[in-house]
Amino acid sequence: MPSQKPADRIHSLRQLLNHHSYQYYVLDAPEIPDAEYDRLYRELQQLELQYPELITPDSPTQRIGDQPLAAFSQIRHEVPMLSLDNVFSDDELNDFYRRAQTKLDLNTEIEFAAEPKLDGLAVSLIYENGMLARAGTRGDGVTGEDITQNIRTIHSIPLHLMGEDWPVKLDVRGEVFMPKAGFELLNQRAREKNEKEFANPRNAAAGSLRQLDPRITASRSLAMYCYAVGNADSMGKFTTHSDVLNQLSQWGLPLCKERSVVKGVKGCLDYFNTMGQKRIALPYDIDGVVYKVNRLDWQKELGFVAKAPRWAVAHKFPAQEEITTVNAIEFQVGRTGALTPVARLEPVFVGGVTVSNATLHNMDEVERKEIRVGDRVIIRRAGDVIPEVVSVVPGSRQLHANKIVLPAHCPVCGSDVVREEGEAIARCSGGLYCAAQRKESIKHFASRKAMDIEGLGDKLVEQLVDEKRIEHVDDLYRLQLNDIASLERMGEKSASNLLAALDKSKTVTLSRFIYALGVREVGEATALALAKHFGSLEKLQDASEEDLQTVPDVGPVVARHVFHFFHEPHNRQIIQRLRTAGIHWPDQQANEQNQSLAGLTFVITGTLTGMTRDEARAALQARGGKVAGSVSAKTSYLVVGDSPGSKAEKAEQLGVKILDEAGLMKLLAE
Ligand code: IVH
Repeated sequence: MPSQKPADRIHSLRQLLNHHSYQYYVLDAPEIPDAEYDRLYRELQQLELQYPELITPDSPTQRIGDQPLAAFSQIRHEVPMLSLDNVFSDDELNDFYRRAQTKLDLNTEIEFAAEPKLDGLAVSLIYENGMLARAGTRGDGVTGEDITQNIRTIHSIPLHLMGEDWPVKLDVRGEVFMPKAGFELLNQRAREKNEKEFANPRNAAAGSLRQLDPRITASRSLAMYCYAVGNADSMGKFTTHSDVLNQLSQWGLPLCKERSVVKGVKGCLDYFNTMGQKRIALPYDIDGVVYKVNRLDWQKELGFVAKAPRWAVAHKFPAQEEITTVNAIEFQVGRTGALTPVARLEPVFVGGVTVSNATLHNMDEVERKEIRVGDRVIIRRAGDVIPEVVSVVPGSRQLHANKIVLPAHCPVCGSDVVREEGEAIARCSGGLYCAAQRKESIKHFASRKAMDIEGLGDKLVEQLVDEKRIEHVDDLYRLQLNDIASLERMGEKSASNLLAALDKSKTVTLSRFIYALGVREVGEATALALAKHFGSLEKLQDASEEDLQTVPDVGPVVARHVFHFFHEPHNRQIIQRLRTAGIHWPDQQANEQNQSLAGLTFVITGTLTGMTRDEARAALQARGGKVAGSVSAKTSYLVVGDSPGSKAEKAEQLGVKILDEAGLMKLLAE
């Protein structure tokens, strides 16, 4: 629009940029591609460079100041920033509710504004005539630190409120936090640079806000949700807390979408349970929920005790982190011989269960975290995630605690342990001589996604091997009723059930059978691709490494593992015996065309557990799906494994559908 005067163009560019930034950061609903936003931004920058007298502090180009502070100055909160009382059980919640009812002299139900309790740090934003004037940390509740420079770098916080009719002075309270994806990314970067990682998103958020150089804060992924107004009187006409929050949202401030209005103790508990279930899937950490009496006149009447209001309470989830002692470190041998160090812990109640073991993944991890026997360690169990050791409690080391070393021999069979150059994983070289590897391969064979032998659980496999009733998978199909019934804790009934399940498992598909064999690097998706490509076991067994590499996404490594597996005489013998025992599958048309995913574009991020990313890609492509490297508005699905990086955040922002590993397998099975 060359006809526009520079001042007018600058004005409309700012409006446009503010609008799109609100769509993107607050509503998660971008209307234009990033490149278009960048173009508008650069145009504004250019004009401001030409006409510096037209720069205003609330221009989108002015978020990041370039002057580090020497120190934070102090900020006094005109209305103190309070904390909350906690309840940890239904009973305690009931007590809170009764106290409020009694004080209000009510026998009707109380309505609450309910929200997640975010795990970050409280801040106060002061808007004067709609302009962000100052921002401070909570500090001791009365005096905090002036972190205005850093708060300005958070894109979802408006430098200028939308709409009009704002009070002359508005004191917005809320929580600044670091979304999970941003936290993972930050720690990944720290690992790459051999720097110390943050223990949790809360510490990372606090550390990022406490930077004297706003450019560092700007490089961190921070967000904020507003949850209250400090100077409530400024909001004159409103009668409920939820209306106040909705008004804040109207002014363009970021609010948590999970907020709700609930009634009575039952409404609170339902909300608590729903959020407990949603918790893992949320893109940010929460440690409970907060209930606030919704009527503002009742809030006033209830007032405060010490530092907390009587009209609000935090209902906390069971702790997800606890401290305990490492009693021993042992090595577990897996199906492929991989040795996994496991910490045996003094049992501790965390995340709702008692934990006495935590995986240490591999020796690199043990060394990085410097864990030794006798150490006090922080254990985390989040949701259904396997418990892990977060870090050693500083100063808890025993005087003579030895460094953990990789054993030279397999703890189960005594064979040499080998760790190849550059590999994180050490393996027992005993192969099928090793009882641990045999047990694990039988467990894998019987598992649900493999032969699906109902009733053949881990414990029973161990008993069968330990009692020498079976050695390899083919022995399963020679078991007699008495072999099983005579085991401890087994009877005739369960023995005959198991025999029936074994019989049923003989009818299988080729891809399940291939998967069940437990070839290294062959997960479900690769097994499926191999079955499709070759159509018969004979052809697969006779394939050369070159043949194998023609299967979509089978690379040299997988090809070598598959080739070696089928050229090992012992493996061939076991397969022959399995087929003689009656295992069979329907004939399959090679290269059968199932193009159910045609027209869809996928992006894969994070670590998958049942297959590699390459396998997942191959499987999606085999069904006609496209697999891209980066997330855009055109992405149909983002497949996320463990520790997803910035892609998950991007997808979240673009509203791209997210598929976890189970969802992916379901889609592939359709
Ligand atoms: S309301 C007077 N709502 O929890 C009411 N606080 O343990 C003051 N917090 O200092 C707080 N999420 O930093 C409120 N949805 C939420 C919250 C929340 C997190 C924090 C806040 C407060 C602390 C008290």
